Formats: sequence, structure tokens, C-alpha cells
Amino acid sequence: MSDPRPIGVFDSGVGGLTVAAALKRRLPRERLLYLGDTARLPYGTKSAATVRRYTQVNLEFLEQRGVKAVVVACNTASALALDGLDCRAAALPVWGVIAPGAVRAAAATRNGRVGVIATESTISSDAYGIALRRIAPGLGIWSQPCPLLVPLIEEGWLDDPVTAEVARRYLDPLLTHDIDTLVLGCTHYPLLAPLISRIAGERVALVDSADAASDQVATELAHRGLLAAAADPSAGGDHYCVTDASRRFERIAGDFLGREITLELVDIGNSAAD
Ligand code: DGL
Repeated sequence: MSDPRPIGVFDSGVGGLTVAAALKRRLPRERLLYLGDTARLPYGTKSAATVRRYTQVNLEFLEQRGVKAVVVACNTASALALDGLDCRAAALPVWGVIAPGAVRAAAATRNGRVGVIATESTISSDAYGIALRRIAPGLGIWSQPCPLLVPLIEEGWLDDPVTAEVARRYLDPLLTHDIDTLVLGCTHYPLLAPLISRIAGERVALVDSADAASDQVATELAHRGLLAAAADPSAGGDHYCVTDASRRFERIAGDFLGREITLELVDIGNSAAD
């Protein structure tokens, strides 16, 4: 059994391209239909009710475009909205990034002390804490919102003294708790992995939720007989949609994907929900 339809991936904006890139590394035959909700970002400072509304509309857009499954690449949307989603076609699988990240972190820690960095909304939801405790109730978990990191990463300051200083301020409180594992619980943070690793030291294993999620997607697609048999040239390549045509997205996309992409501007009609 095989399924040539694309995998839908959505994020509040450009950050989910880390998940798209991880999916392409893990599943090179699959086509992706990416939606960046650039008109409504950031999600990481918004309430659960708002993020849920946006997520539902994004999911419906991808469903209408004929995807075979949806990956909620945005950690904030995965944390706040995944449980409440109404997947009209019950057959459409929807996966987030929190559970796979938590599974990987629980497996990685040796001393049972795990740190989590993410947006403010993800941290206040305690989604990673809940998922981690479900897997290993005895874990010590320390969380830190890092609201300044997303803008710095989008500015392209990936190896910069200002970013290093900000990251140190955020990480120090976690490091005093002797964590040996750190969950990068935001789409953007994998781009800072080298810098974070330098600050945290070799002893601390970094868990990339984008990478962990792509492993889970591969397993689930195989299990359901939904993997693409081979790249089909007539089906076209990956496709990228945004809800606001920002030059910024195109510019930053290069940092995330390592190549230029063409964008389609879409009106997903949820302006009434703003
Ligand atoms: N994509 C968001 C996340 O992973 C970060 C950017 C935003 O706040 O919208 O949580």
C-alpha cells in the first residue's frame, strides 16, 4: 500500500520549516504542503482559545487541499490546541511535536533532570511537563519561557554575542538544577543548537522536537500504509503557503531550509476569528 498525497505541515510562520526539513531528511520521497500562518503570528504569546481557533482553521485548509495527514509543527499549537481539534474526517491523522519530544527526552536523561525551553504559552500550558510525567512520573522538570529567542533567530543572529548573552540568561536557572537533558520546545530553537550546546556544555543532551516528530510521523505513516511509494514527478514538489505575503518569510526561509522557496498567498478566511 502507498499514498502519493502530500503531508500537511503547519506552523504560525517560518519556524515550522525546521520540522519540514526534518521530515524531508527522514522521508525524502514524501511531498509536503506547508502552511505558515504569517498573518496571525506569533502564537507563542496568545491565549489557548485563540490558538485553538487558528489551529482548527489551518487544519481545515490543509484537509481541503487533500493532504493525507497533518503535522502540527508549531509547539505552541501542539501544546494548546491538539486535544481539542475536530478532525472532521476521522481518517485524517493529526500529529504534534510535544509527545515525540517528551518521549525522546525521557529516554535521553540519565539523572532524571530535564529542562524545557519554549514560548510563554507553551510553558504556561505545562504541555511538556504533563507529557514527560506521563512517561516517567519521577522526573524532575524545570521550564523556562524564552520570548526573546524567536525574534533574534528570525533576525538571523544565530551565532551572535547578543543572542549568546540572552540565551545564557535563560539557561542559567535551568543549569543550576543540574539538568542533563534540554528540550528545544519551539520550532525555531534547533537553529540555535550549536550556541545552546556551547552554553549548556557537552553533558547536556539537546532534544530537537522537530527531529523526534519526524521519526514518529515515519513510523505512523508506515503503520497506516500511507507512505509514498516513490517521488512522483507528475505530482509536483513541495508547496508552501502563507496567510500574509511577507518578504521576511522568504528571506528567513533560506536560513531554515538552506534554499529559496516560492510562496503561495492564501486567504484561509479566518479573519473573523481574529
Ligand atoms: N512556532 C512557535 C512555536 O513553536 C514559535 C513562534 C510563535 O510564537 O508563533 O511555539
